[in-house]
Amino acid sequence: MSDNTITWREVAAETEARLSVVADSPTNETRWIIERAAGFDGPEYVLGLDENVTERGMHFHDLMVERRLAGEPLQYVLGRWGFRTLDLYVDRRVLIPRPETEMVAGLAIDELKAMRAAGIDRPVAVDLGTGSGAIGLSLAAEVERAEVWITDASADALVVARSNLAGIGRAATRVRVEEGSWFDALPPELRGSVDLIISNPPYVAIGDEVEAIVREWEPQSALFAGEDGLDDIRTILEDAPSWLRSGGVLILEMDPLQLETASELARSFGFVGIETHADLAGRERSLVVRRGD
Ligand SMILES: C[S@@+](CC[C@H](N)C(=O)[O-])C[C@H]1O[C@@H](n2cnc3c(N)ncnc32)[C@H](O)[C@@H]1O
Repeated sequence: MSDNTITWREVAAETEARLSVVADSPTNETRWIIERAAGFDGPEYVLGLDENVTERGMHFHDLMVERRLAGEPLQYVLGRWGFRTLDLYVDRRVLIPRPETEMVAGLAIDELKAMRAAGIDRPVAVDLGTGSGAIGLSLAAEVERAEVWITDASADALVVARSNLAGIGRAATRVRVEEGSWFDALPPELRGSVDLIISNPPYVAIGDEVEAIVREWEPQSALFAGEDGLDDIRTILEDAPSWLRSGGVLILEMDPLQLETASELARSFGFVGIETHADLAGRERSLVVRRGD
């Protein structure tokens, strides 16, 4: 396919047929791959389909199609994925940001905006286990003057998060990146003063069934958390009260089946105002709790 007298439309027909072996929606995946290869943005795709391919664009296209046919997730193949207002760089070092997490981040954004409206000019937020930076960078991008700490135990993940940090413009000056296990990553002077903590920690129980594409391609350390999948949630719930200010908020994403146990744990660690929130599919996914006093 290196004949540059063919058009992207002709390429698209063939690519769609080839991708149907691995993709649930080959039409969409073909579009994303061609947009990436040809540099088309949004509506340019429809007009651009009748342009002749370039040698460079075709080479890039072929590499992406081969990777996708080898089973690699589309998001890693494209090297980027949208999350709320951001276009994030992603590769195998980080979990692919999920649509349900956009809603969880939205809860934190609403909380921080409410804090600003209530007179906290520069609310301090922490995103533990930031991966690509999806949640924490969204907080910084969408909440004026918020100061955001993003952390991860994986140095590899933080390389990706830092490259995404470089892409958010001026808001990046309000973000700090720290490596370490959960709260160990934070400087001691933050203790007792954090307004909001959010985390989408690993929450799959070892031994639980996970889609093959996820198990084979995404970082294991982003997925699994002990026998019941609650190891990391338990740690965060136990340690968070000493980092939050009185009335500060903790938001956790988890499996709907873990919410009841996690709510009880939260109560046992002194949290109040315990709420759960559903994702777009109507599945309860997030726990929102407040430090009492
Ligand atoms: C489910 S992924 C979430 C990534 C990202 N926040 C998102 O929502 O797309 C969990 C993240 O927690 C990190 N992690 C795992 N164990 C950790 C620990 N002990 N301390 C800090 N981060 C950890 C993983 O490296 C991974 O980036």
